[in-house]
Amino acid sequence: MKKFFKIAGLIVGIVILGVAGVIAYVKLALPNVGDAPDLKVEVTPERVKRGEYLANHVNVCMDCHSTRDYTLFSAPLVPGTLGKGGELFDQKQGFPGIFTSKNITPAGIGNWTDGEIFCAITTGVSRDGHAFFPIMPYPYYGSMDEEDAKSIVAYLRTLQPIESKPADSKPDFPFNFIINTIPKKATPS
Ligand code: HEC
Repeated sequence: MKKFFKIAGLIVGIVILGVAGVIAYVKLALPNVGDAPDLKVEVTPERVKRGEYLANHVNVCMDCHSTRDYTLFSAPLVPGTLGKGGELFDQKQGFPGIFTSKNITPAGIGNWTDGEIFCAITTGVSRDGHAFFPIMPYPYYGSMDEEDAKSIVAYLRTLQPIESKPADSKPDFPFNFIINTIPKKATPS
């Protein structure tokens, strides 16, 4: 009987250690998408035009990163809010936490490097290392053509700077762990 308790205790101990190890790994080592690439995006008129088209119509960045008027048909963007951020996605809409889109005008991310913005779009990891909630569809953006992602970066640089500091996002437990497992390295195509 004594031996049984010894072995059972040992097994419980190993399981607890294993679970603690997994939690520590997910919380501390993930997301791991490597360093932001060291790249310089030259802002050319062609890139800005292409980026404007992608960000407003294909990748719909601007739909989430601007204020929308939900009292009007199709909730158009409110003029003067392009890229300002602050759209809320929370528990009332069924999300596992409170997520706020960020200011992506030069007043918000003007001091990010081109590589950091490129990395945020294509992997969903912020320059401070936190994982974005995948309502921003970065798992898809990760397979975008590299030139298209660069065009979006070029376009963002030309936005009218708007001073605004949206609140930090706060995922609920246990999603605050799970979220770290979502970002993957980009696989441009
Ligand atoms: C469906 C909504 C949605 C779409 C579409 C979207 N985003 Fe986001 N974006 C978000 C949310 C929400 C966050 C905040 C994520 C978080 O902190 O968890 C975010 C964060 C960011 C950040 C980080 C900024 C910071 O200060 O932390 C950048 C940069 C960004 N988005 C750029 C883009 C670009 C460029 C596109 C289009 C290619 C895009 N987003 C499309 C919702 C969206």
